[in-house]
Amino acid sequence: MAVNKIGVALIGAGSMACTHMRSMAQTDHLVLRLVCDINQTAAEHMAANYGEEGCRICSDYREAIVAADIDAVIIVTPNFLHHDILMDVIRAGKPYYLEKPIAMTLDEALEMKTESEKKNLPNIIGFSYRFYPGFRYLKDLVNQGVLGDIRHIYSIYAHYPRPIPPRTWRFEKSKAGTGALGDLGAHTFDSLRLLAGEVESVWGMGGIVVPERANPQGYGMMPVDTDDYFNAVLRMQSGAVVTCSFSRLAYGRFNYQRYEIYGSQGSLVYELEKAQEKIEVCSGDFYCDRYQFTPIDHTFAPYDIPPRHEPSLMQAFENAILGKDILGAGQIDDGYRVQQVIEAASISAESGVWQKI
Ligand SMILES: NC(=O)c1ccc[n+]([C@@H]2O[C@H](COP(=O)([O-])OP(=O)(O)OC[C@H]3O[C@@H](n4cnc5c(N)ncnc54)[C@H](O)[C@@H]3O)[C@@H](O)[C@H]2O)c1
Repeated sequence: MAVNKIGVALIGAGSMACTHMRSMAQTDHLVLRLVCDINQTAAEHMAANYGEEGCRICSDYREAIVAADIDAVIIVTPNFLHHDILMDVIRAGKPYYLEKPIAMTLDEALEMKTESEKKNLPNIIGFSYRFYPGFRYLKDLVNQGVLGDIRHIYSIYAHYPRPIPPRTWRFEKSKAGTGALGDLGAHTFDSLRLLAGEVESVWGMGGIVVPERANPQGYGMMPVDTDDYFNAVLRMQSGAVVTCSFSRLAYGRFNYQRYEIYGSQGSLVYELEKAQEKIEVCSGDFYCDRYQFTPIDHTFAPYDIPPRHEPSLMQAFENAILGKDILGAGQIDDGYRVQQVIEAASISAESGVWQKI
């Protein structure tokens, strides 16, 4: 059957939705047919810039989900809405793209996963760093065994957003769930699973450094109750031990990620800042060949990231709907497993006790 257009409803027309709509415009079949946002200006802007001719707007997500000409739904709202919106999408039986972290709690995440899998709905979760060429290359090297058995990983995810953000939903526990932990940690936990397998147990601690931020609606300050920073230690089922730090207060960092991966036969350092990726490797061959002669030569040398065509999350979404290869994207089960780690880390931060996954 020839596929023509796949009519998409976008729910939540904020900053991340712009990125997705730009890349959706590069797909062959996905077309933006309906934009739903409680902010009418945002919806109008998105429809005007990325919508097909006649693209509609609305403010009630239920209306968007059930519209007869909508074949698939993209959910890019604040976290507290993910569960309720997705459950309606599942009831309507439509394929979906959902942002991370998928839910506010593990109970919510389990219900979303269970009901989605019962209906076998095509879906993609927004683990966007899976699509970075350097990260893909890094993952290939690690998975091919270039480093031997992974023993330790040290990872940093550091932000310092400019201009300094006001007290948006991200700083409200009731809307975001957690702060740096769920926002930055969701990506890192997903990446770590790809590099070192499943998490066995976790210990965490986090805190708030900036207790109030400017009222986005006007004058004055408002309280913040989500973590500005979070540190976690993960024991992986493989035996590897991972130390992670997430911070929204890393002065000078825009969107910085670093993974130092130490294996039994080699080591690798991956860095991302803005869209620039770097990889340095101290390879097993190098180590074995040189060790007896010059032990101090255990140097890390830059590796060129091979150029290759990189797909996008939206291409993966189109492919999922068409039953094609989803290009290494994450799905609802990955979202659930990441939520397990977020929730366990959060409980550990309150209790001070290691949590099993
Ligand atoms: N995958 C990634 O790399 C990545 C990056 C940034 C954000 N995100 C995720 O994307 C989601 C949105 O983040 P953002 O930065 O775009 O936030 P944002 O605040 O810029 O946008 C959210 C939009 O949702 C709208 N909205 C709020 N309530 C609504 C409702 N009831 N119905 C319809 N629309 C509603 C808001 O008006 C706003 O336009 C979050 O879950 C976040 O974690 C993912």
